[in-house]
Amino acid sequence: MNEENRCRPLSFDGKYIRAQLVEDVRDHTAHGVVTNLSNEAMIIGGDVPGVIPPWKSTIMRGGKITRAERVSIVDVPDSVNLGGVMFDGWDWFGNRMEEFPRTTPLYISKHDVVGEVTLNPWRFSNHPEPLEETERYDIQLNLWWAPARTDAVIHNTHAFLEIHTQIYGLGRIQIFKDHAGTELYRELSTAPGDTHDPIVRVTGRRTYTYPWHRGWTDQDCIWMAIELHPK
Ligand SMILES: [Fe+2]
Repeated sequence: MNEENRCRPLSFDGKYIRAQLVEDVRDHTAHGVVTNLSNEAMIIGGDVPGVIPPWKSTIMRGGKITRAERVSIVDVPDSVNLGGVMFDGWDWFGNRMEEFPRTTPLYISKHDVVGEVTLNPWRFSNHPEPLEETERYDIQLNLWWAPARTDAVIHNTHAFLEIHTQIYGLGRIQIFKDHAGTELYRELSTAPGDTHDPIVRVTGRRTYTYPWHRGWTDQDCIWMAIELHPK
């Protein structure tokens, strides 16, 4: 049997952001944004127990996680100089992608592969006519940082399933008809503690189709990418 409450710092744990992974969680007190990184429901203790579904999240303020398979706990204990997070082992995203606009202030943390999972991507993405098909994925996390009113660039290709947990600040995911962004037709609000529903449309085996979308920050924002990479 595995040892309970196996804990380790995530690669983006640092001066401004405390981030840890906990596995086989039992009666574990938590402070911060807790994301359920598993196919099993996470149970919260209390007079009336709470349930966080798979791949969803909540804010814990000293409450107890009664039971969970695998969670990340990410907290910003003090936001003084939070904009300095980009000097804490992070990278300007333009250094990773040549075609990225040269003056857009989007920053990325180190990434961390926290485990693997087998799931049905059709069901994961709430497809109305799911096929019975499972796949093995690496679960990869990283953080993003951008100041208020950042256009984090419209894109529509990912070779993985992506969702995001908002850690700090209010923002949106905006969905457009085309690459130019002339017609915005949908927005998802992102608030601390929330993980949005997948926007991917699974169209075949390992075929993930995304609408034109971008991150948009209304305030200074930190959010966590959760990427499921097929193995
Ligand atoms: Fe994306």
